[in-house]
Amino acid sequence: MTHPPVSFDPATGLGLLRTTHSLYALRVGQDGSPRHVYWGAPLTGSEVAALPEAQPPTGSSFDADAAPDELGIQTGARFGPAGLQVRFSDGVRGAQWRFDGHGVEDDGTLRIHLADRVYPLAAALCYRVRGDTDVIERWTEVTHTGTDAADDHQGGPGRGPLAVERCDSASWTLPHRADYRLSHLVGGWSSEFQLRRDRLPVAETVLTSRRGVTSHQANPWLALDDGTADEERGEVWSTALYWSGSWRITLSRDPVGRTTWSGGFGHEGVSWTLEPGQRLCTPVFAGLYSPSGFGAASRSWHRHIRSHVLPRPDEDRPVLYNSWEATAFDVSESGQRELATIAADLGAELFVLDDGWFGARRNDRAGLGDWTPSPDVFPRGLRPLADEVRRLGMRFGLWVEPEMVNADSDLYREHPEWVVHAPTRQATELRNQLMLNLGRPDAAEWVLRTLDGLVREYGVDYLKWDANRVVTEAGWSGHRDPDRLWIDHTRAVYAIMDRLRGDHPGLRVEACAGGGGRADLGVLARTDEIWTSDNTDPVDRLGIQHGFSQLFPAQAMSAWVTDSPNAITGRATPLRFRFHVAMAGALGLGGDLTALTDREKAETAALVAEYKEIRGLVQHGDQYRLTGEGGVRGVHYAARDGSEHVVIACCPMSRFGRPPVPLVLPGLRADARYEEPAGEMVHDGALLTTRGLDLGLPGGDYASRVIRLRRL
Ligand code: GLA
Repeated sequence: MTHPPVSFDPATGLGLLRTTHSLYALRVGQDGSPRHVYWGAPLTGSEVAALPEAQPPTGSSFDADAAPDELGIQTGARFGPAGLQVRFSDGVRGAQWRFDGHGVEDDGTLRIHLADRVYPLAAALCYRVRGDTDVIERWTEVTHTGTDAADDHQGGPGRGPLAVERCDSASWTLPHRADYRLSHLVGGWSSEFQLRRDRLPVAETVLTSRRGVTSHQANPWLALDDGTADEERGEVWSTALYWSGSWRITLSRDPVGRTTWSGGFGHEGVSWTLEPGQRLCTPVFAGLYSPSGFGAASRSWHRHIRSHVLPRPDEDRPVLYNSWEATAFDVSESGQRELATIAADLGAELFVLDDGWFGARRNDRAGLGDWTPSPDVFPRGLRPLADEVRRLGMRFGLWVEPEMVNADSDLYREHPEWVVHAPTRQATELRNQLMLNLGRPDAAEWVLRTLDGLVREYGVDYLKWDANRVVTEAGWSGHRDPDRLWIDHTRAVYAIMDRLRGDHPGLRVEACAGGGGRADLGVLARTDEIWTSDNTDPVDRLGIQHGFSQLFPAQAMSAWVTDSPNAITGRATPLRFRFHVAMAGALGLGGDLTALTDREKAETAALVAEYKEIRGLVQHGDQYRLTGEGGVRGVHYAARDGSEHVVIACCPMSRFGRPPVPLVLPGLRADARYEEPAGEMVHDGALLTTRGLDLGLPGGDYASRVIRLRRL
């Protein structure tokens, strides 16, 4: 019998969400509060019928125990982190719900409607299941249901403005387990996406960004398991927030062994005001259950992102050339033309002119905000370069940093009031720049018009949208609800991207914030790639890419081959090794092409051509992360129908002169045979999935190979 993906039974208060590999159950209790009941492997009908009542708070005065809330509130015997924190205009805090109905929509959305028993507050807890992925999307809508603040004394208490001090998208709960382990991503500039796996302490653990962008330091993705899962085995629960501004996720493991977490936009200490009639909708906080380890959880995310997040998932990402590392601010038209000519010869399909092309931007101290080609650098404007790039058979891309301004710029001289900072505070400059508050409609409109003008005038095919600073001394002078900037700025960025894409259907966008500082599913819903890190050292990239792949698919991972020694780390590595690491994502070239010898050019062109042969598998296949002993890192990409495969194996450092051990390929079928088209070798699937594939890597450091397999 097939069940609908979402259902709700008003008689029992039981809501059920079904995906292929999971079931999620909640129940609205007698007290009107929706509580968590179950999240895990699918259950039979009789098992569902036996799901427990969602227990309201009971017990002694000190150990009141209740089933966890679907969104914590601040009333009753609840002492954990509350996902919804409100203060009514009479000073009273916290909601007390009564159930106010439900809705099931055709697109697989379930809405649980709640109304406060006394105050003019309504909330909808929203759930969406798409049918073709295991992801459950959740969000919250809160509404001030009063009609007019002037009624304050007539219509009951708290009719005035409502302070929303926290409004999370969702709270999640794990089943009881003997132990809990948290996987999350940490880092910094040039060291983004470092995967950490730590035992979850019996305490509250906060993952957050207070920076106004997603941040390099933490990412709003996490996975939880009982401490025994690995890439291929074990139950994993994972969540990701669709938001590119400040955010906060609070995990709580309590002394009786229960683990819950609540997350949403904004960090602690900011609050938003809802006037009568106003509504606040949160971003989506999505979650998935995987019965088969971290690898399967990532593949589930990748599939969901391809089907429901990325705007153009089916397109191949072009091999791009970006001139930043070649020239930095030393940009000239002739220099860019020379680079473009070589890039086209090497096989690049897109040429991106990076920073330094506009205004007085000869270094990072001036010109940001003045988005007209610098007459010193491009006396004839950008048109001749853009035309030349297209004549060479490439698309034309441009770097912009539209949210930012140097104090030494015409824009700032004209509109000092547009920056985020409170006027009474000294504005901290980061990378010599200030940030515009795009929550202001006038500033946002100006940015949209400016970008639209550039795209139109130069036929820009690709924008690298950068953001090289974070929010400090936040203020919105004259605004009634100044903390709104923490939401409104991000929403404006989204709206501008959406509008540009809508008006220019051919335009593609790369998300960047000083490397990978803005990488999340909110920005990915309106971009095509994420610039993973300014650190292009291939050894460091192996770790960065491993972390990035936990959530994001390879097609969204912008990966360039740059010069050796690396500009940031000073490490010298062979060209082939740099290529093989970058070929695991959306390949780009980013070095000084004029310095390549003829031999290096030939090798580069051959490797670019090889990438184009495997690009379909890398960018659209299923990804298996492989770990071998002896420091080998491998990734295996499998065509969705299992017929074609590519394994990229990299061993940065040889150990004891021993060859790396074979790499086990769990993504293959044990009952099939596979041939290596290049070497004409035939392998048994049974051996490849147990004993592994001999890599045949040459000895020494920085050994790497790309191995293709075809199912016979
Ligand atoms: C940031 C980006 C780089 C480059 C520079 C230009 O750091 O991450 O790739 O575009 O800005 O200033």
